[in-house]
Amino acid sequence: MHIVKVRLGDRSYDIEIGSSLDRAGERLLELGLGKKMALITNPAVRKLYGQRLVDGLKQAGFIVMSVEIPDGEQYKNLDWANSIYTALLINSFDRKSALVALGGGVIGDLAGFAAATFMRGVPFIQVPTTLLAMVDSSVGGKTGVNHPMGKNMIGAFYQPKKVLMDLDVLRTLPKEELLSGMAEVIKYGVIRDSSFFEYLDTNRGKILSLDPDALGYIISRSCEIKADVVSADEREGGLRAILNFGHTVGHAIETAENYTMRHGYAVAIGMVYASRLAHKTGLCDQSVPDRVETLIRSYGLPTDLSALSRKPSSAELMATMQIDKKAEGGKVKFVLPKKIGEVAITKEWDEQQLQELLA
Ligand code: NAD
Ligand code: GLY
Repeated sequence: MHIVKVRLGDRSYDIEIGSSLDRAGERLLELGLGKKMALITNPAVRKLYGQRLVDGLKQAGFIVMSVEIPDGEQYKNLDWANSIYTALLINSFDRKSALVALGGGVIGDLAGFAAATFMRGVPFIQVPTTLLAMVDSSVGGKTGVNHPMGKNMIGAFYQPKKVLMDLDVLRTLPKEELLSGMAEVIKYGVIRDSSFFEYLDTNRGKILSLDPDALGYIISRSCEIKADVVSADEREGGLRAILNFGHTVGHAIETAENYTMRHGYAVAIGMVYASRLAHKTGLCDQSVPDRVETLIRSYGLPTDLSALSRKPSSAELMATMQIDKKAEGGKVKFVLPKKIGEVAITKEWDEQQLQELLA
């Protein structure tokens, strides 16, 4: 097992990579939680892994109740958060009772938001089961739900007490979901670590065949990079925004596709456009967008707007970007690569150039 620490003073926590689901209960004993726990999951993940986790928790003396949320992004909303509160109240949960999220980013974001707000905050444990959740959404404390008018528009920064990752669960993950997570893994190489970027290029076969050492390494390195950034800037006052590389155009694509495109796929396309914009802006040479695009394509991820079910106009995409959370005073801050391994956060980019790229 490999441990990555997220250092946030008295809210610091461990990410345990390679921690077996069966031993989750004993891994949580050191946290001094109350006896009662609520497992938040969806029917598909529950069927695969729910019983093993519940057995492990019970063996350690916890009393476990389960709350099932239907599978899908459309259920990450206030109505389903309310169903969690109701279940907790009916079962007389108190402020020491913990919520355990078993699932991908949808379950993690929803359960985290419920944990942040129930009785003004109860302990929260993340047990991510998708690659995307392992390398991104379960780490760093962004929790939230969608509003009919926008994705992730209601939320809270709320850190988990621990993140437990059993990498064997990735064996049942559909290939498209694995690739979606790979987009975020590639992101870490571009924003922070050129040798990691090269590792992803050289070890594609091992990674895609789920070689345990390769998987362990890419998840650990991604978590280390995210933990470093979050420890330095928890609430996105500055540095944390680099994690949004590819997400500005990516979110506009997700909106255009009515959230039917996987998050990582949209981010993959967004990273290619951001890299091309960086070159047009004079921040980097042509080799940077070329290398980013080549690596993304080599993993079977989409690289341009032809992957969408309909081609949105550049004006439509630009308009969506303006109302993104990352816009400030009407001008969108872009994360643009200067070279592989280093990015700039900048408002100095040309709308005309981006419009031409998107057209
Ligand atoms: P997801 O949670 O919808 O999971 C994808 C699918 O995989 C689901 O159908 C799920 O049932 C299934 N699944 C999960 N684990 C499985 C397993 N081990 N075997 C088989 N099937 C499995 O999608 P996701 O990509 O994990 O998460 C996307 C969500 O994460 C979005 O809502 C996005 O906004 C959010 N997100 C949050 C952050 C953050 O910092 N909080 C960061 C990135 C993304
Ligand atoms: N997923 C971006 C962040 O956690 O800041």
